[in-house]
Formats: sequence, structure tokens, C-alpha cells
Amino acid sequence: MKRKTIIDCDPGIDDSLALILALSSDDIEVLGITIVSGNTPVQMGFENAKKVLKHMQRLDIPIYIGAAVPLTKDYVNALDTHGKDGLGESFLPDVDGYLQDKDAVSFLIETLKKEHCSVIALGPLTNIAQVIMKDPTAFACIDQLISMGGNFRSHGNCSPVAEYNYWEDPDSAALVFQYLAKIQKQIHMIGLDVTRKIVLTPNLLSYIEHLHSYHGTFIKQITKFYFKFHWEWEHIIGCVINDPLAMAFYIQPQICTGFAAYVEIVTDGAARGQSIVDEYGFYKKKANAYVYHQVDTFAFYHLFFERLFQCSKAEIAYLDKLIVKE
Ligand code: RIB
Ligand code: CA
Repeated sequence: MKRKTIIDCDPGIDDSLALILALSSDDIEVLGITIVSGNTPVQMGFENAKKVLKHMQRLDIPIYIGAAVPLTKDYVNALDTHGKDGLGESFLPDVDGYLQDKDAVSFLIETLKKEHCSVIALGPLTNIAQVIMKDPTAFACIDQLISMGGNFRSHGNCSPVAEYNYWEDPDSAALVFQYLAKIQKQIHMIGLDVTRKIVLTPNLLSYIEHLHSYHGTFIKQITKFYFKFHWEWEHIIGCVINDPLAMAFYIQPQICTGFAAYVEIVTDGAARGQSIVDEYGFYKKKANAYVYHQVDTFAFYHLFFERLFQCSKAEIAYLDKLIVKE
């Protein structure tokens, strides 16, 4: 039985890799892709999603444009990380099509009430918060809600304490976590504590190119800028690919280990966007999240390579020699 899924994203280089993983997985039925401003302005994210779907020969999948700005804060993009075109300055040709018959939030509300489906949120939670504000019963229909966002003990990536998705729109993230607490549901928070361990290295990229030149060429085109950024900012040789881990967790949850906790998102001040994880129950509130802090990097890469490249056991054995254990 295919798992009906909506992917909310801000493509974005790592979002694009997560989309490729989802579309390489026969057990996932992508009902639609919704776009939110984040890494890229929403219109650019829409154009980039079309480029990824064209690469995957899946232009049958609908894409809907969502929130252009955060709930209350000024919009701050991450084009410094993702390049002027939001896809690593690969400047891939534009893809025509996709007249918008509805916006992202309308599609989310309509589909969530009609289908038993999960939502994989790979960007700021602005669209998700608007679903709650417009039709909370639709939000309550979500089967699994998985978010790449936040951090537990790991330092931030856009402030000392905050991860970008929750920093860019902290009010939406706070609203989502507060509402989850109210209806006693939990979000799967795939934060920097685990995603930082997933580094696409030059060796792994070379191996991808040898295994599958079609995907390899595309992935190299969109990640070369990311490699440069990671060396300049964090002296990492390679690039941290956050979003594919959230997608891999959805496919194979045992890749990550975590715990249930009450989480609160800070909306203002020096700690804006921080995800405060109440590990020891000081606030005496029921858990509204599963927080992940350990990841099996080998299991992630086995899944990623098997799904994208249909690797043999021998090819997976060779892969293990290339994985840098954090
Ligand atoms: O902080 C990393 C997250 O912010 C990733 O989802 C990346 O694509 C950006 O959206
Ligand atoms: Ca993202």
C-alpha cells in the first residue's frame, strides 16, 4: 500500500535531494508538493520544484504555491547558501506549465480532509500554521507530520541557538507546536542534531556519478555551490544534506533514535527560533514532539543509494568504505 504524502518545501538544494528520494521510492505516493518561502522566495521555489520534477520525469505531480512571507517577521531568504537561483547556481532551464487553480493551503486543507495522508515539512512551517488557522480539523487529519527543523543540543545554523526553518518563521513554528500540545499529537522533529551527521562528501558524489550518470550529473550541478559554501563557513569538505534525512526517516524510521518531549519555540529576542526541548519535564506538559538525537549514517546512505541507484550488495559494500563516520 503506497503511503499518501504531501511534501511542503522550500527548494533549495537539499529539499531537491529529498524530493528525488521520495520520487525514487515506490512505497510513497506524492499527492502534491506545496511551496513555502524559505531558502528561496516562493515563486523561485515553485520554479525549482518544476525543474526537479522534470529531472524525475514526474511533471504529473501537482505543485502549489504557498506563503510568500512569514506570519509576522520580515522574510529572510537563504540564497547565500543555495545560490542566486536557489539550486546551487546550476541555472537549469525553466520548465513551463502548472497554472495555479488553488493555493498551497487550500490544497493542503482539501487533501487532508479527503485522504489519509502524511505531511513532510522541509521548510519553514508557514503553510502548516495557516492550515491550523484556517481549518484546524484538516490539520488534525494529518497521519504523520515530519519536520526538518529545530535542534536539541546541537548549535544553531543561523544563530547560536536556532535552526533556519524555525528561525525564519518562529511564529508559525510556535503555533504548530502549541496546537500539537493542545490536541495531544506529536510532530517528528528531525533537527540539526541528526542532520549534521549526513554529509555528502566529494567521494560520495564521485561514487554517485559512477553509479548513475543521469542523477550524478544533476546532483553535482546543484551541490557544487553548496560544497563551496560549507567549506567557507564551516570548513566542512562536502555539504550537510538536511532534508533527505527527514524523508529517509519517513521511509525507514529506525534510522533515527529519539525521545518524546514537550517542545516550545521561542518567537522573539536573542533566542528567536530556538526549539526548547523539555527533556526532563520541568514544564510538566505532555509531549508534543518526538526529538531525534542519534542517526545511523550507514543506514541512511544505504537507503539513499538503494532507492536512487538500485545498488547491488557489492556496491553497498563499497559505499561503506566511503562513508565518513562522524
Ligand atoms: O536549516 C536547514 C533547513 O533550512 C533545510 O530544510 C534547508 O533546506 C533550509 O530550509
Ligand atoms: Ca528545506
